[in-house]
Amino acid sequence: VQETYVMVKPDGVQRGLVGEIISRFENKGFLLKGLKLFKCSKELAEEHYQELKGKHFYPKLIEYITSGPVVCMAWEGIGVVSSVRKLIGATNPLQAEPGTIRGDLAIYPGRNVVHGSDSPENGHREVALWFKADELCEWVPAQLPWLRE
Ligand code: GTP
Ligand code: MG
Repeated sequence: VQETYVMVKPDGVQRGLVGEIISRFENKGFLLKGLKLFKCSKELAEEHYQELKGKHFYPKLIEYITSGPVVCMAWEGIGVVSSVRKLIGATNPLQAEPGTIRGDLAIYPGRNVVHGSDSPENGHREVALWFKADELCEWVPAQLPWLRE
């Protein structure tokens, strides 16, 4: 089964959008496996965004992600990776559809309030990067029979 790493970025935390953003995924029906408020190091931010090293915005991206606490989440479910990306919306919030998180809550790529893994492989990689094994919880929500056959 798939898992994905979702993060409320420092602007989302500073703007008081944590509850709003978590609710989008909770309401959809995915399973929350891990959750923490965390101030990440430069090393961790660089490891997380290793694929973007060399882009013109990379130094500002690292500064942004390490500028304050983030809220780290691991979500599980069939098809969770691409579904979460759709719920988040396009990288540039001005291009993101209304109804998506970025489409509703942000205006600038460098302040786009939330991250979601872009592939199942990166989902596993990023959950393992941001969470220790004992910070992840296996559990069965009582409403599971009402979420899927
Ligand atoms: P993440 O979920 O955060 O990985 O965003 P994404 O997958 O939609 O975009 P991508 O991985 O290509 O870029 C990572 C992050 O870098 C984006 O979410 C933005 O915060 C930032 N970023 C990307 N492109 C630009 C840009 O052109 N300008 C600025 N300032 N930031 C950018
Ligand atoms: Mg990305």
